[in-house]
Amino acid sequence: MERAAVIGAGAMGHGIAQLLAMTGLEVWLVDIDEEILSKALNQIRWSLGKLVEKSRVTEENAKKALERLKTTTNFEEAVKNVDFVVEAVPENLELKKQVFSRLDKATPNHTILATNTSSLSITEISKATKKPDKVVGMHFFNPPVLMPLVEVIKGEYTSDETANLTMDLAKRMGKTPILVKRDVRGFIVNRVLISMFTEVCLAVGRGEATIEMVDAAVKYKAGLPMGAFELADYLGLDVTYSISKVMEEAYGARAKVCPALEKLVKDGKLGQKTGSGFYDWSVGRPRIPFRLADKYDVERVYAVSVNEAAWLVYEDVATPQDIDTAIKLGTAWVQGPCELGDNLGLDMVLNKLKELYAKYGEEIYKSCPLLEEYVSKGWLGKKTKRGFYIYE
Ligand code: 3HC
Repeated sequence: MERAAVIGAGAMGHGIAQLLAMTGLEVWLVDIDEEILSKALNQIRWSLGKLVEKSRVTEENAKKALERLKTTTNFEEAVKNVDFVVEAVPENLELKKQVFSRLDKATPNHTILATNTSSLSITEISKATKKPDKVVGMHFFNPPVLMPLVEVIKGEYTSDETANLTMDLAKRMGKTPILVKRDVRGFIVNRVLISMFTEVCLAVGRGEATIEMVDAAVKYKAGLPMGAFELADYLGLDVTYSISKVMEEAYGARAKVCPALEKLVKDGKLGQKTGSGFYDWSVGRPRIPFRLADKYDVERVYAVSVNEAAWLVYEDVATPQDIDTAIKLGTAWVQGPCELGDNLGLDMVLNKLKELYAKYGEEIYKSCPLLEEYVSKGWLGKKTKRGFYIYE
């Protein structure tokens, strides 16, 4: 792999292009809009500057990476001679299919076509090409330069060779790739994040807590690097909304789209990038008050996250080890949800879910059969030496 192209210069695309250039590949960053490209280039310069400041990259290597990266609006010209393409356009199946159909015609036969989709079907996207064996999911986490995880997803037609080369490239980029076993909507990390987001939106929607109370608990009690609403704003509410829509279509009432999110998107309040969303970002990152950390029961977030991890194991999407690695590296949680469940006690998690389901009747609280089975077998986690994991 020597030459690559990234299609789409938004938050993810420009970060992925920067990573590829830092890995030593010649990179074309492609977008339809010159202004977006020039903004992307400025952000890449800023990011490289930060990495140099922190001694993570030498000044010389940062300069070389910049020299290897070029921007263009000429799609066909940029991809005609590349070995690897990462598509990072907005999360819209039709748009992605159009991009893949153009890539199919414009790239050499050997070129691998990767999509950075957050949630859409790799199989569906691959059908827009005549070489679906070369199409693969390569899902990065925001900010791609800093988050060490890449989910690699095989569609129905993806060849082992394509998946292996993609895993190798992710490793060369300094990332830890996790091969997701099934092409399910949301893969691993977004499944867990959306379950958390569904719960916190319901809690705020019912008037039980404010967004600051939820975020204070999530940040200071659960120890997550950002509050749930803060993270949504940081990712972009348009991005969060399009993932939520795909998840609702796939999982129904278990992943209801948050009405407050829908309203903010309709009003053009897209979070950090527009200066307002759940929070006001006009004066920088929101300050989440520590004193509110006890005002929301963070065990609810634990319960739905552990439950979602159980669904992932039950549906054979990933092993507990891979789920925990993915969540820790993709979103910087201190513990993965399977470790968390085992530490809390799976009986405690199940009781919490049952209590919530009895009280509210929402699908998100319906316990996964795997969790029920573990508890009925007495596999309660660390305390019984058996849960998601076996303890010696
Ligand atoms: N390049 C280089 N440096 C960067 C950077 C980038 N792209 N982005 C941030 N930094 C720097 C900051 O400037 C800051 O440097 P400073 O210390 O000199 O000011 C440093 O990194 C730390 O940043 P902050 O002080 O602003 O804040 P944090 O310590 O909280 O770190 C964070 C920021 C790494 C984003 C951390 O908050 C985090 O891990 N948050 C969770 C992010 C997450 O969950 N991402 C995945 C979401 S899901 C997803 O992406 C999937 C998709 O499908 C939607």
